Amino acid sequence: MFIFYFTVLRLHKQSFTYYLRLSLVSDKILFLLNHISYNTGKLTLNEILVICLKSSRKCASSVVETVCIIGSGNWGSAIAKIVGRNVQRLPNFEKRVTMYVYEEVINGKKLTEIINETHENVKYLPGHKLPENVVAVPDVIEAAREADILIFVIPHQFIRTICSTLLGKIKPTAIGLSLIKGFDQAEGGGIELISHIISKHLKIQCAVLMGANLAGEVAEEKFCETTIGCRDSRVVVVDDEDAVEICGALKNIVACGAGFVDGLGLGDNTKAAVIRLGLMEMIKFVDVFYPGSKLATFFESCGVADLITTCYGGRNRKVSEAFVKSKKSIKQLEDEMLNGQKLQGPITAEEVNYMLKTKGMEDRFPLFTAIHRICIGEVKAEEMINCIKNHPEHMVKMEMSEVVEES
Ligand SMILES: NC(=O)c1ccc[n+]([C@@H]2O[C@H](COP(=O)([O-])OP(=O)(O)OC[C@H]3O[C@@H](n4cnc5c(N)ncnc54)[C@H](O)[C@@H]3O)[C@@H](O)[C@H]2O)c1
Repeated sequence: MFIFYFTVLRLHKQSFTYYLRLSLVSDKILFLLNHISYNTGKLTLNEILVICLKSSRKCASSVVETVCIIGSGNWGSAIAKIVGRNVQRLPNFEKRVTMYVYEEVINGKKLTEIINETHENVKYLPGHKLPENVVAVPDVIEAAREADILIFVIPHQFIRTICSTLLGKIKPTAIGLSLIKGFDQAEGGGIELISHIISKHLKIQCAVLMGANLAGEVAEEKFCETTIGCRDSRVVVVDDEDAVEICGALKNIVACGAGFVDGLGLGDNTKAAVIRLGLMEMIKFVDVFYPGSKLATFFESCGVADLITTCYGGRNRKVSEAFVKSKKSIKQLEDEMLNGQKLQGPITAEEVNYMLKTKGMEDRFPLFTAIHRICIGEVKAEEMINCIKNHPEHMVKMEMSEVVEES
């Protein structure tokens, strides 16, 4: 396993960190992502990765790779825009990129037809032209059959169905990259990571990409960072790719808490406290259930940066604020406010609570627990701060200060 960690302060006067592990699986993915060009006009990330990749293995081989994007929502369409354009200028990639589109009818016309004729996903990423080599396909098997790289970017609640549809229908040599944020419930009171579900059901390796990446801003090609977690297939490594993925899922729960604070008009100090406690619960969650991960992972884009952007700019925050102000149900607001987009926070809170409850650990994660109870209407949003006043984080601090006073 190799870990490359870069901070390019000199070049852009802006902290730019990029965390990646090179491995057999990641060679192809990184070669592609290398050209995803998250940073507009700033080629530093590309340059760095090209150097890394050239110095690693023969990823720049003459083999032509085909890419399929499984998903076409807000994030899927933004990624399609970037991947579609980048494969055009790379010799190693098939120019045609398939994008699985869950078929819907918009103003009497199929969404796949609209995308293929106008090159715009008018429902999920309006105002952005997709490259013409991105082809919308309503049949996921047809879209994925020839792919060497499968980019999974659907709301997590649909992943099991997609996997069972694709089982035995994809190339056995294909590799996966999950951009999906969320969990699934595991039998017996646990949770299952989405990348593990993909690996297990499709029998392929699956890396993850998580970060402070609001789709609209990525589509506009504004500067951003991201984190890739990837398991080395040859040696046993510390499971940080799990931590990367878990951060992506848990931050959506915290974003609901931030939205409740906004809805209640509690102010920026309270919101900062909720974000901080949320981060501490995220760290504790990984420590308890996926021990061995590194604290440093939480300070990557997938951790604190994604948490902040979601607690200020994301849809979970927005709907949670409206939930407090309007007194409508979360489901009703999701339908009214998101135009078909899916909320991940409340459902992830429910999945996490399912496990915490089974293991008798709700008290150890009071913020996650309170947010879940508020989302399902068991507790009023006004009670959130009371629920977390005795947070173990505060108790530890008190004990420490008592020790200081006594000594
Ligand atoms: N939007 C973002 O800014 C962003 C950023 C990073 C990660 N993500 C993650 O990416 C994933 C996808 O989110 P998104 O924002 O692209 O989606 P979205 O919420 O914008 O859109 C919902 C998508 O689900 C599809 N869909 C609806 N019913 C379906 C079904 N039964 N089966 C399959 N698909 C169905 C819709 O066609 C649509 O493409 C999520 O896990 C999300 O957390 C999103």
